[in-house]
Order: sequence, then structure tokens, then C-alpha cells
Amino acid sequence: MSVSQQLEEIRKAAMGELDGTNNARELEAWRVRYLGKKSQLNEVLRSLSRLSLEERKAVGAAANRLKADLENELSQKEQAVRQDRLVASAGERGIDISLPGRSFRAGRLHPVTQVYHEINDIFISMGFEVVEGPEVEWDYYNFEALNIPKEHPARDTMATLWIDSEAESGGRSRLLRTHTSPMQIRVMEKVRPPLRIVVPGKVYRYEATDATHIPMFHQLEGLAVDEGITMADLKGTLYEFARRFFGEDRKVRFRCDYFPFVEPGVEMAIECAVCKGEGCRLCGSSGWIEILGAGMVHPRVLERVNIDPEVYSGFAFGMGIERIPMLRYGINDIRLFYGSDLRFLRQF
Ligand code: DAH
Repeated sequence: MSVSQQLEEIRKAAMGELDGTNNARELEAWRVRYLGKKSQLNEVLRSLSRLSLEERKAVGAAANRLKADLENELSQKEQAVRQDRLVASAGERGIDISLPGRSFRAGRLHPVTQVYHEINDIFISMGFEVVEGPEVEWDYYNFEALNIPKEHPARDTMATLWIDSEAESGGRSRLLRTHTSPMQIRVMEKVRPPLRIVVPGKVYRYEATDATHIPMFHQLEGLAVDEGITMADLKGTLYEFARRFFGEDRKVRFRCDYFPFVEPGVEMAIECAVCKGEGCRLCGSSGWIEILGAGMVHPRVLERVNIDPEVYSGFAFGMGIERIPMLRYGINDIRLFYGSDLRFLRQF
């Protein structure tokens, strides 16, 4: 019998026998018999060295092909046996595995949280560090140290939820922070410049609820202090943020504004996405949408935390978060975010 005939015989015998196996033990025996060290096939492979070069090529190829085929058949059969066993044992326990499975819903992040992460990532990539602060805050950090003393008219623009009455607290009143700016002071008290931080978090105002007002919302504060920081750094940083978040071709505008803890103060607006600057209902026909307040840190604020304003300067900014997904997705009622209506939340 020639070697190739011999290989054919092995193939026939192996395939025939494999058909008859139907459990793991039989399969293992089959593997040892046809693919093991002492198998006929292995003998053929070992004896190749005794053949002439020409024969070796032909027979070697055929023997290797047979080996690959047998291995392939074996693994298919193993799978089939495993499957049969599964069906059988499920059947014994009265389980119908042909029924479609129950799908379960994956959770997802709240749209406001998603935007948070996106904004944080942009500032992190520009070298800012993310820090968080308390929501119950002292009058001192929320107002006083930010250059908003008692009786300052700026206090009237932030309707405050007080925790202590003035009389009870002996001048040290607690409140729910009305903005994230107090973290500027808390950080500068502890960390010497150079520093670059962003502060995301919840803020509270004593306001009647409507489509654009809720008593709890989110802000993101930014602060950079170092020697030689100028308005150009402020503009460059915020331009870059707007480009990355809203897109390369969205126009950005800065105008003067007033905040007691910066000088000069500015507001930044982006071109309205709906009307592209033409003027529409969304932007109150101005063509622009204000998204943040900013400015150069007031020298008095720096002095308060013992940072010499003759040596150091800094810029700060603060933006409302909810506005941003509202603008992006065309959401016209801020209350939707906190109504816990899953039909709304599942869209994001
Ligand atoms: N804290 C201000 C607010 O809630 C926003 C703001 C304006 C923050 C200017 C800043 C800033 O850091 O420089 O209205």
C-alpha cells in the first residue's frame, strides 16, 4: 500500500468512527487514536525523513492536510456534543432554551453628567485640574471674599437659600452656595500659584420654577493664576473651549460685563446655532447666546488670600451647565432634566 493510500484509509476509518461517538470520553479516545503520539498518522509524519525529497513534499502536504482536517472535525464534533448535552439537561429541568431571552436595559449617564464629562475633558487636556467643593457654604466664601460685602447690590442678583439667620449666626452664616466661585477662594487659600482648576458642581437659588429657572442647577467654574497671565490667555482658553465643544466655525463674541470679583469682567456668547446670527426666537433675535461670565481676577480677591497682585494675575470664568445640552439638543424646558421621566432621559 502506498503512503497516500494509507492516508486515505486513515481518513475513512477516522471519519467513520467519529460519526459514532457521542460523548466527551469517546471523543478523547478518538483523539488519542487518530491524532495522538502513537497514531498511524503521526508515524507517517515521522517517517517522512526517510523519503526522497519529491515524495516528501507530496506526502508531507497530504499528511498535514489530513491532520488539519481531523482536528477541525474533532472540534466541530466537540461543540455539537456539548450543545446536545446542554439541550438535554435543560430539557430534563423543564427549560425551553428555544425561547427568546429577556433583554435587560443598560443604564446610562444623565445628559447633564455627560456634558460635564465632555467639558471637564476639554479643560483637563489644557492642563486644568478638576476639584470639587461643598454645597453648604459660608457667607465668607460665597460672597465676602469674592468682593461682595453685606449690602452689596450683587447679592440681590443671587436669591440665596440661607441655612442660618443672621441673628443666630453672629455674622457667620451658612447658605447653599449660589455659584461655584467660592471654590476660587478655598483653593487659593491652600495652593500657591501657578494653579489651573475647574470646579463642576451643584448650585442653588431661591427662585420660582419655570421653563428656564429651577432652584438647583449646575455650574462649572474655572480659575488660572500665575505670573504674567493676561486677558489674551483668558480669550485664548475660552475660544479654544468653544471651538472644541461647539465646532470650529461657530463664532464667539466677548463683551464687557460686571462681576464684583473680576476686573475687567466679560461675558462670552456664541453665535446662535438656529439662525446663524440672523436673529430668531431662541436667541431673542440678537443672533447670540450668552454662555458664560469671566474676567481677570480682582486684585482685592488675590490680596484676600495673600497672593501679591503686583506679582501674580489670573483669569476666572463660570458657566451654567444645563444651558449647554439645551442649546445642543433644542430642549426648551430645563425642568425636563430633573423630572425623572425616563422617556426623556433615555434619549441621551
Ligand atoms: N459666578 C457667576 C454667576 O454665577 C459667574 C461668573 C462670572 C464666574 C465671572 C466667574 C467670573 O468666575 O469670572 O453668575
